[in-house]
Amino acid sequence: MSESPSPTERFERELRDCWSRSDALFDRVSPADLLDRPIQLRHPILFYVGHLPAFVWNQVGAGALGLGPLDAELDCLFERGIDPHDACAAEDASIQSWPELEAVHAYRDRVRARILELIPQVLATPGELCEKGRVLHLCLEHERLHHETLLYMFQEQPGLRSLGEQPDVGAGVASSVVEIPGGESRIGARWEDQDFGWDNEFGLHIQEIPAFSLDSHPVRVSDFAEFVDSGAWMKDRYWDAQDLDWRPEHPGSWVRGPQGWEIKWIFGRVPIAQAGGWPAQVSYAAATAYARWKGASLPSEAQLNRAAYSTPSGRWRSYPWGEQPLSPKHGRLDFERWSPAPVGSHPAGASAWGIHELVGNGWEWTSSRFGPLPGFRAWASTYPGYSADFFDDWHQVVFGGSWATHPSLVRRSFRNWYQRRYPFVFSSFRLVR
Ligand code: AVJ
Ligand code: FE
Repeated sequence: MSESPSPTERFERELRDCWSRSDALFDRVSPADLLDRPIQLRHPILFYVGHLPAFVWNQVGAGALGLGPLDAELDCLFERGIDPHDACAAEDASIQSWPELEAVHAYRDRVRARILELIPQVLATPGELCEKGRVLHLCLEHERLHHETLLYMFQEQPGLRSLGEQPDVGAGVASSVVEIPGGESRIGARWEDQDFGWDNEFGLHIQEIPAFSLDSHPVRVSDFAEFVDSGAWMKDRYWDAQDLDWRPEHPGSWVRGPQGWEIKWIFGRVPIAQAGGWPAQVSYAAATAYARWKGASLPSEAQLNRAAYSTPSGRWRSYPWGEQPLSPKHGRLDFERWSPAPVGSHPAGASAWGIHELVGNGWEWTSSRFGPLPGFRAWASTYPGYSADFFDDWHQVVFGGSWATHPSLVRRSFRNWYQRRYPFVFSSFRLVR
């Protein structure tokens, strides 16, 4: 009989697993491509090689334990993404020359070795940041969120070495309309309910919402093609006025090929005849226009929350399908395949109301602006801007998860968000009537 692992051993193991996934991802990038910027708004890929360890050092070593810099220059250079929020980042934004890959790897390895030594010290340090290893969870989840961010950059500019992955194609399932009676939505969680949550998950926000009619399945690429091909996409009246000056000619993840639309995935493109069943991956702005064309709207965060986790008996579930731990039959998550699945491939993951695909296969756009829950507190003193920097009129809540989402992020309280015009992310949407 083996003894159950200590908290230190558990964190060590999780960190090592997470780091191997990071390394495996970066190893698929040819060194010649490291300075590419697949998405102009973001730093080159090399930045992320340094950002992941710098974040860990800045949060744990410098932040939570007060040990000062590990490498003053690199800690700062790789501190955070391109939006210049502070002096450090403003300087990064104009960086023209990046360190050599070997230097970044050496820095990464120093951070990792130090952090593994410091786990017991973190767990023994009093205060919210270190208790229950919260700052370690913060680093793990940050890195896992970046795995996804990194991958959707490759949808814009394929350059990731394929190991023979094939897209999971098919026609998918057409949606039907499901009536959900009025009742509670329960967004977020109480602080004492879970060991870790990001600041935006607390506290528990319970509301009564009226009955609504929700589509059982997300909108498919083939459904969305009718909107584009009929010319309705170009009709101004379907769009929010603020997006008209930006509206592209067609969805950003579609390319016009000789045989018709081709849909981007991270290793290239798939003809619409094959990818027609994938969830339509378009920006919030385009999803909203489609909904208006259909005389419908996008569901709110509260509606999806209720559709996913409440039940006719009034009991609440941990997952849409119940209490069983997540497995591949419940949804397309966790890199099981490196593409979405045709909509409707996971009937075992349906909620008590018969709503499919609420978790996995694409982060679902909601009509809800990203904002704080009542009682919001930026509890992580080392990272006060994680959410608060995005409480504005530009970011929408997305719900559920995608094929590139780690299972640790699948929890009822987890909230994610993206810019309204982002066509890059692994998103999906459905209609509410
Ligand atoms: C929460 C996924 C929107 O990718 O911009 C990573 C996560 N924040 N580093 C993002 C994040 C800072 C964030 N999202
Ligand atoms: Fe980051």
